[in-house]
Amino acid sequence: MTDLIKVAEVNEIEEGTMMQVEVDGELVCLAKVDGVVCALSDNCTHIGGPLNEGELEGYEVTCPWHGAQFDVRTGKVLCGPARQDVPTYPVKVEGESVFISLPNEE
Ligand code: FES
Repeated sequence: MTDLIKVAEVNEIEEGTMMQVEVDGELVCLAKVDGVVCALSDNCTHIGGPLNEGELEGYEVTCPWHGAQFDVRTGKVLCGPARQDVPTYPVKVEGESVFISLPNEE
């Protein structure tokens, strides 16, 4: 079981934009597309670029440092130079609150 952690209010994230939150020392990028909030690691798997500062077009985020692209829903790499997918986190919206769950640390 993982705990749900409140990270934001739905209205804090504007449609088509991203924002960074810190959860348990992890930097997480929240993206809102078509009213749906997605959560993924804010560290690009290339060399750690801050994805929340990149461009969001539809569900594709482009890293601001070297242009790798990822799908914010799945974390899948769409375009290099990154080769590894970024981790994503389950999101739950209850009322106006956005919760995510981080994987348990072993
Ligand atoms: S750090 Fe993201 S593409 Fe290089």
